[in-house]
Amino acid sequence: MALLLSLTSSFHANLRKARGRKAAFLRMGGILLWLAVTACAQSTKISAVSAINDPALDPRVESILKQMTLEEKVGQLVQYSAGQPTGPGTGRTDYEDMIAHEQIGSLFNVVDPHQINAYQHIAIEKTRLHIPILFGLDVIHGFKTEFPIPLGLASTWDPTIVEKASRVAAMEASADGIRWTFSPMVDIARDARWGRMAEGAGEDPFLGSAMAGAYVRGYQGSRLNAPDSIAACAKHFVGYGAAEAGRDYNTTEISEHTLRQFYLPPFHAAVDAGAASVMSAFNNLNGTPSSANPFTLKQVLRKEWGFRGVVVSDWNAVGELIPQGVATDEATAARKAFLAGVDMDMVSSFYHDQLEKLVTSGQVTQAQIDEAVRHVLRVKLALGLFEHPFVDEAGAPKALYRPESLELARTAAERSFVLLKNANGTDGKPLLPLANTSQNIAVIGPLGDDSSYSNGAPPGAGPRTSLTSALAERIGATHISRFKGCGILDATNDDIAAAVAGAQKADLVIMALGESPDMSGEAASRAHLGLPGRQEELLEGVARTGKPLVLILFSGRPLTVPWAFEHVSAVIAAWLPGIEGGPALVRTLFGDVNPSGKLVVSWPRSVGQEPLYYNALNTGRPPGDVDLTRPPADIVARYVSRYIDEQNSPQFPFGYGASYTSYSYGPAQISTRSLSAAELNMKLHSNAAVMTAEADVTNSGSRTGAEVVELYIRLQGTSVAEPVRMLKGFQTVTISPGETRRVKFELTPETFAIWNAKNQFAAEPAKLSVWISPDSAHGSATEAEIVP
Ligand code: BGC
Repeated sequence: MALLLSLTSSFHANLRKARGRKAAFLRMGGILLWLAVTACAQSTKISAVSAINDPALDPRVESILKQMTLEEKVGQLVQYSAGQPTGPGTGRTDYEDMIAHEQIGSLFNVVDPHQINAYQHIAIEKTRLHIPILFGLDVIHGFKTEFPIPLGLASTWDPTIVEKASRVAAMEASADGIRWTFSPMVDIARDARWGRMAEGAGEDPFLGSAMAGAYVRGYQGSRLNAPDSIAACAKHFVGYGAAEAGRDYNTTEISEHTLRQFYLPPFHAAVDAGAASVMSAFNNLNGTPSSANPFTLKQVLRKEWGFRGVVVSDWNAVGELIPQGVATDEATAARKAFLAGVDMDMVSSFYHDQLEKLVTSGQVTQAQIDEAVRHVLRVKLALGLFEHPFVDEAGAPKALYRPESLELARTAAERSFVLLKNANGTDGKPLLPLANTSQNIAVIGPLGDDSSYSNGAPPGAGPRTSLTSALAERIGATHISRFKGCGILDATNDDIAAAVAGAQKADLVIMALGESPDMSGEAASRAHLGLPGRQEELLEGVARTGKPLVLILFSGRPLTVPWAFEHVSAVIAAWLPGIEGGPALVRTLFGDVNPSGKLVVSWPRSVGQEPLYYNALNTGRPPGDVDLTRPPADIVARYVSRYIDEQNSPQFPFGYGASYTSYSYGPAQISTRSLSAAELNMKLHSNAAVMTAEADVTNSGSRTGAEVVELYIRLQGTSVAEPVRMLKGFQTVTISPGETRRVKFELTPETFAIWNAKNQFAAEPAKLSVWISPDSAHGSATEAEIVP
């Protein structure tokens, strides 16, 4: 290792000397280029450049490219984390020096605007070509104003909220000097064991695509070169969420049909929305790691989708090709990743160390290097970085925690809550919403004092109010008693006993239980999905007091708590609701807002059901609900696709969410009972409505509510088996008590197309079922057909 290090450093020292000589020679050309770039920036043509695919970028890209040396080109393909976290794979720390030698194209995890400017001054003033550094960060659900985690944001079923939240994130991050976020994560997540389910929009490709587009539009704004726009990065390309056994970074096996029909669409939507970058994933996909996979990176992304932005590897994913077993040395790993289509190497340093040598030995061509560099330059130019490389160091505070941003964070949190259960109390009325009468409330559980409810954004100094404080503000501190009861992972018996005694004295108990923020997200897979530590014991102890009990679950995934769903009157899934989570919960508990969030993942009864997703294929032996209290009565009951000790159905289905009011759905009415596959295929990429489907939805309760109305289809008789249901539309309608709203969907040809046995995206003759329903498990189908 020591020998390797000394060889490497003498190699770099020699390289630097050679560069010093060349630099003097080339400086004059660079100054001319810089003048040209700056002059161009003033022309109206250039300032109109705002999108990654804008052809106006091409001549600028080419004019810079043709002045670059091979070393300078390779430099553009190199990225390091220059702040926290550091970790395995971080090759270098001498960033000032590297920037001065044009060896770095991008840095990330630098969050101090002064430091960002300091690095940028080196890039702009001390290098021959003055190419700015692109600064990135994982801005996942807000920068400083933390919104609900993406799983929560998706539970709003409202792309507009997601777009607005990402706009705020972009404004705050860009004011800090960050112009690139590694977000959105658009991985389909079918397995709640996988901690990164928290970072995405759940299990459905249709909803996931809508959210992917919304994130990109929000981050990138109406003009990518506006100073408050940031480049989006759709990640992790692709199939990362299908990690076997739900264990992060694990291998994936995904058929092309499943890849095309489920895992790729949200990425396609992000690219169509103009995403400036895509991140190649860690996972091995059908034997070829995603970061060395020419099929996904070149064939699908570049050829089929026409993507012109940059592909960055995930953290050290190029380095990980060695342990993954497709390379035994750095040169091979760099070559495989690069030739497969990874333009920029995040932290491994393999591109820095190997690419020039690979060109010299003829294993990589200059033209291939040029193509990758074009992608990087294109993003930097599209962002207007050449014109505005520096950040106004005094500007950040004005952009952070604006009142309207905090209000949006609160609204987003309110809309993200999913009311899972709201049974009648002893007075025969549903427990929620709580009456505004003075009653004594015991707040019990380890999550009652959390004030950020976040698992990703860097901690900021903004206003935060925990659930307990927000409750005290609402009803007065004297009416609140607070008992932690236990830690998230640990407790003494005394704590639990004190909490139970506290509950005895209260009129009502609110329990705040669940996962700590670091129990979801990256590297946070769980093999057990129940309440961690002794929280279940605490819950059962408190519930046995017989006091009215509201359980608020904080988590980055659904939790298997069947006992709670049976015994507790009211349960809310609050996810990790962000900086305004406390006030948003209080407003929800007291009925200022009526919950309208719905699940974007199937909620399991037991971890043994995972992976669990609604849009599954039917088996040849589907069971109905099974009787688990006795052994299967006969062959018919036994030899079906079932567990002998659990139902197949989820605890709560995808799309489910209750409300303080109730809704009734009329049957779906469709405009035609017969579609022609040939005609659908002719119009496949048009937006023409080929069928309308509508249904009456009535608010049958006593409160106004916003109902997410969902449209599903099923196709039978196709060349490949299709899922039992597929979401193809959703709309939120606000309905007053007693009012009926007719909800109408216009279905385009694409709705009916599948990735078929000929490996084509096409409509086929089929029996067609259409549901308009409150979730993926209810409603009755209206039948039609697709004829040849
Ligand atoms: C994660 C990515 C993230 C990157 C940079 C990786 O470990 O998988 O999602 O963008 O680190 O922080």
